[in-house]
Amino acid sequence: MRRRMAWYLLVLLAAATMGYPSRRSAVDLDATPRTTITYKELSDVRRFSSHALNYTTLLLEDEKGILYVGARGAIFALNSSNIADGSQREIRWEASPEKQNDCLQKGKNNKTECFNHVRLVQRLNDTHLYACGTYAFHPLCAAIDADRFVLPPHLEEGKEKCPYDPARGYTGLIVDGGLYTATRYEFRSLPDIRRNLHQRPLKTEESPVHWLNDAEFVASVLVRESEHSPVGDDDKLYYFFMERAAEESASFDKSHVARVARVARVCKSDLGGKKILQRKWTSFMKARLVCYIPYYEVLKGVHSVDGGSWPSTVFYATFTLSAQWRSMEASAVCQYNISELQRAFEGPYMQYQDNTRKWTLYDGEVPAPRPGSCITNRSREDGYRSSQDLPNGVLDFVKLHPLMFEEVKPARGEPLLVKKNVLYTALAVDRALALDGQQYDVLFMGTGDG
Ligand SMILES: *[C@@H]1O[C@H](CO)[C@@H](O)[C@H](O)[C@H]1NC(C)=O
Ligand SMILES: *[C@@H]1O[C@H](CO)[C@@H](O)[C@H](O)[C@H]1NC(C)=O
Ligand SMILES: *[C@@H]1O[C@H](CO)[C@@H](O)[C@H](O)[C@H]1NC(C)=O
Ligand SMILES: *[C@@H]1O[C@H](CO)[C@@H](O)[C@H](O)[C@H]1NC(C)=O
Repeated sequence: MRRRMAWYLLVLLAAATMGYPSRRSAVDLDATPRTTITYKELSDVRRFSSHALNYTTLLLEDEKGILYVGARGAIFALNSSNIADGSQREIRWEASPEKQNDCLQKGKNNKTECFNHVRLVQRLNDTHLYACGTYAFHPLCAAIDADRFVLPPHLEEGKEKCPYDPARGYTGLIVDGGLYTATRYEFRSLPDIRRNLHQRPLKTEESPVHWLNDAEFVASVLVRESEHSPVGDDDKLYYFFMERAAEESASFDKSHVARVARVARVCKSDLGGKKILQRKWTSFMKARLVCYIPYYEVLKGVHSVDGGSWPSTVFYATFTLSAQWRSMEASAVCQYNISELQRAFEGPYMQYQDNTRKWTLYDGEVPAPRPGSCITNRSREDGYRSSQDLPNGVLDFVKLHPLMFEEVKPARGEPLLVKKNVLYTALAVDRALALDGQQYDVLFMGTGDG
């Protein structure tokens, strides 16, 4: 145990001298939050509670003044100015006794798992919301009239939209009517980023290389990169997750399987390929996201803000130390500018070496238009009006090269904050105007014990 700890410390030092964390020591970065509110002090805060458990899904519609909350067996609509004013509306949406019984037969826990955990609540259109629940390991979805706020008579199959397992990492967004979800849907299935509720449903590729390896999803973010784009670019969806790494340096400690944080992206107007990558993303790319100690950090939460236009998009992420550290608890918060993500996605690719089973730098020729990029004015001029027109050589390349060589490093090359003996498990960010007339990003971080 001692030796193991010493070995990890050595790795940490090595990482430090390799230039991962900054020249500043961790002690300097150990900042004290301006305000810390303990759970006990929360008594004056307005709170909403009900018979339901597991308030896992939130959707805030600021203009309408409504906070929707997806819970176990229920969806609530609360007054966002005062969630405790008693004006809440509720949809009861329990799993049927038959499905609960089936769930129990499958060996699932009838005290926690065999319920309808609502995992998705999103705005579908002007009149309707869209919600999905695990429904005792038999996922279902529903388009809900937001004014009437009742379940419709007809429910939709949810098995490609919502995980079966209520505790599985999951993220879902509805963008211009299309549903973009990422998770491992069923226990036996592979993790997947999917588009549904769309004329062209899409998935990630599974052969010959898996684009995702045992991925556990944390968050997804839409960035409207088509807005005022001089090159006629497309809107993009960014996915943040943890996955098993197979890069060259990942094997330095064979005793554990290294998991790393990643960011992936797809283009909103992707239609898939015609023959190659049919009904698959043609724009999938992923890169490593590093904060402080590569291979020993676990991504917990991501939040983005922008200053009114997409080039100012900033992502904030919280990380904790992975279980390999055993006796040590620590958290880090990093900030990533969108330009840094773009740099990685515009850089060199990795390739998979069958004989060594590792990913290494690809230094061969790259076909045009650049694989993984969205359709732009330039590609339209060259006759590629949609992803369906892309040449086979480009699509074959995309299939085999999902991983980028460059890592996404935090702004200024170091974390904003490293804190020992604390687990920041969730964060939210608000851009606020201060008395000095300046804009500040205020980070709200929740800890592992409240
Ligand atoms: C929500 O709360 C605000 C402030 O308490 C109140 O003015 C408003 O009427 C409430 N809205 C509804 C729909 O109850
Ligand atoms: C759960 O299953 C156990 C054993 O099958 C049964 O005894 C128990 O009553 C069930 N609990 C509920 C809440 O259904
Ligand atoms: C919104 O979607 C629902 C469900 O698909 C549909 O019934 C309704 O007509 C749509 N409303 C609008 C305004 O498009
Ligand atoms: C739901 O809440 C119960 C009680 O707090 C907890 O034991 C369980 O793990 C929760 N389940 C999920 C999926 O969050």
